[in-house]
Amino acid sequence: MKAQETKTDQSALAKIGYSSLSDNEIVGLEEKFGANHYGRLKTVVRKAEGAWLYTQDGKRILDCLAAYSAANPGHHHPKIAQAAIDSIKGNFCSVLSNVVYTDVLAKFLEKAATILPQLAPRFGSGGNKVLPKNGGVESVETAIKLARYFGFKHKGIQDGKQEIIVFGNNFHGRMITVVSFSSSKKYKEGFGPLTPGFVEVPYGDLEAVKKAVTPNTCGILVEPMQGEGGMYIPPEGFLKGLRELCDEKDMLLLADEIQVGMGRTGKTFCFEHEGVVPDAVILGKAISGGLAPLSVMVTNSELMDMAFSPGSDGSTFGGYPFACACGLAALQVMEDEKLVQRSADTGKILKEKIMDIASRSPHVKEVRGKGLFIGIEVKSGDAMVFCRKLLDLNLLANDSHHHTIRISPPLIINDEEVDYIVERLEKVLVG
Ligand SMILES: Cc1ncc(COP(=O)(O)O)c(C=O)c1O
Repeated sequence: MKAQETKTDQSALAKIGYSSLSDNEIVGLEEKFGANHYGRLKTVVRKAEGAWLYTQDGKRILDCLAAYSAANPGHHHPKIAQAAIDSIKGNFCSVLSNVVYTDVLAKFLEKAATILPQLAPRFGSGGNKVLPKNGGVESVETAIKLARYFGFKHKGIQDGKQEIIVFGNNFHGRMITVVSFSSSKKYKEGFGPLTPGFVEVPYGDLEAVKKAVTPNTCGILVEPMQGEGGMYIPPEGFLKGLRELCDEKDMLLLADEIQVGMGRTGKTFCFEHEGVVPDAVILGKAISGGLAPLSVMVTNSELMDMAFSPGSDGSTFGGYPFACACGLAALQVMEDEKLVQRSADTGKILKEKIMDIASRSPHVKEVRGKGLFIGIEVKSGDAMVFCRKLLDLNLLANDSHHHTIRISPPLIINDEEVDYIVERLEKVLVG
């Protein structure tokens, strides 16, 4: 991409009045008027396309963060962008009151319900139902509501006494209920009173989970692979063990697939690696192809109908036509472009090359990952040192849990882009 092309896009932006700002002015305005809730790398992106980000001076940066797995199909995917444009042109873009029906929501719900296997089959085989929201954390809270109501109504647990088992170093978002059970002091200190009803056990420790179950336990909330918590894969058999325990003790297994679903780990859903079927699945980020905030909680239709009736949940924008149009297109693109298989195949090659670098690097402690979700844990514990060096070489990556470099590019990357990543990792990790 030449600087000239980037400039052309800037002139389009000028029509709506903001591209005349210099990089310094943009940083200045954001820092003056925006909350300081993200540690930033001082890079101003003017355009994003495919796996690449472009700056004003024409620099191309390979995006190995992909908005924490939201941009799985690549930035500004032409088919998803076209669906968004059509939605606006066809006057389907503005929010409608959720008391009316729309075809785009209808089609999106059908697609999202049927892309998953029958969830919680012990409660019937009448299909899945979907409850749409906006950001991922909202759908995590929806799943928590589902499990709590299930505990109350189905298991007869006294309301207010329901307990959900969660895991050490979990990450499920940033709202009060969810940070209440975070292991990170930073996420919750000073934000009390916190929401009770969560019991934390170490990730991957099935015996600890068994010990934590009480008559009030109604569910287990798990990331099938941890993203923000350091990119850990649970020991083999762990998810199966959770499944068996949930069946035995009549509890709901809630899988948070927000970061690791939608093909990221080389399967459509990460739980498939162990052949288990959860009772509820939470999806977000890539479900709209990165074009609109959209998330869903999907469960067995019987459970959904038990837990939610008019008034017990809702969201003004949840499932609004524009987001659903993007979501439908994104799901179609995932199928048409075989993104899941591409993630598995490209991820295998990339991981092998990274393992080779690791074997020669004085800095690498461990390489973990599945598909195009690869973590490189560094011995120093400070992955950002290496991420900054990678950015100097025009590759964007960030840390997971301080100690691990997260390599999670859009699933569309090609062989040349794999080589681009490998060359830069070689430079910063071997020298
Ligand atoms: C596993 C997991 N759950 C939940 C969330 C929260 O999603 P959102 O930031 O869209 O609220 C994230 C975000 O990174 C995540 O990785």
